[in-house]
Amino acid sequence: MGQKGREISKVDKKWVLNELRKAYAFEWVVHYYAALASQIVAGLRTPVYEEIFEEAAKGEFEHANKIAKRIAELGGEPPETMAEIEKLASFGKVNFPNDRSDIKGFLKIFLKMEQHAIELYDDLAQKTHGKDLVTHELAEDLLADEVAEEEEYENMLRE
Ligand SMILES: [Fe+2]
Ligand SMILES: [Fe+2]
Repeated sequence: MGQKGREISKVDKKWVLNELRKAYAFEWVVHYYAALASQIVAGLRTPVYEEIFEEAAKGEFEHANKIAKRIAELGGEPPETMAEIEKLASFGKVNFPNDRSDIKGFLKIFLKMEQHAIELYDDLAQKTHGKDLVTHELAEDLLADEVAEEEEYENMLRE
């Protein structure tokens, strides 16, 4: 981001960079688990869920990249190591169902992740409102995506 671009941001730059790094890390964690789920899911409906989880993995990867772009504009860098990513994401342990055909078991984990993301972006959108409009808009866009994804998982769980 250029000089003027930096001047117009009225939030603490260190704070906002840290929030964005946390969000980036969390998106990577969700990306990883969705990709893994698409590889290990089993049972009668495997092809359907393979694709659903693969698409989810792609979507969260795109989110991570959008966040990385904003981090760069603010003069920062995403976390460098996977250990940092896990720490910053601070989502805790993920236990996929031992029964790999337990689709609902998988879906419940991803629903929780969407809800975690919703809290994250709602908070970021609130705190940057009227202060850092570019980050605010990014947070709103991501929030809208995560809200839609939460609903999709809820609907799949109802099937
Ligand atoms: Fe996301
Ligand atoms: Fe999501």
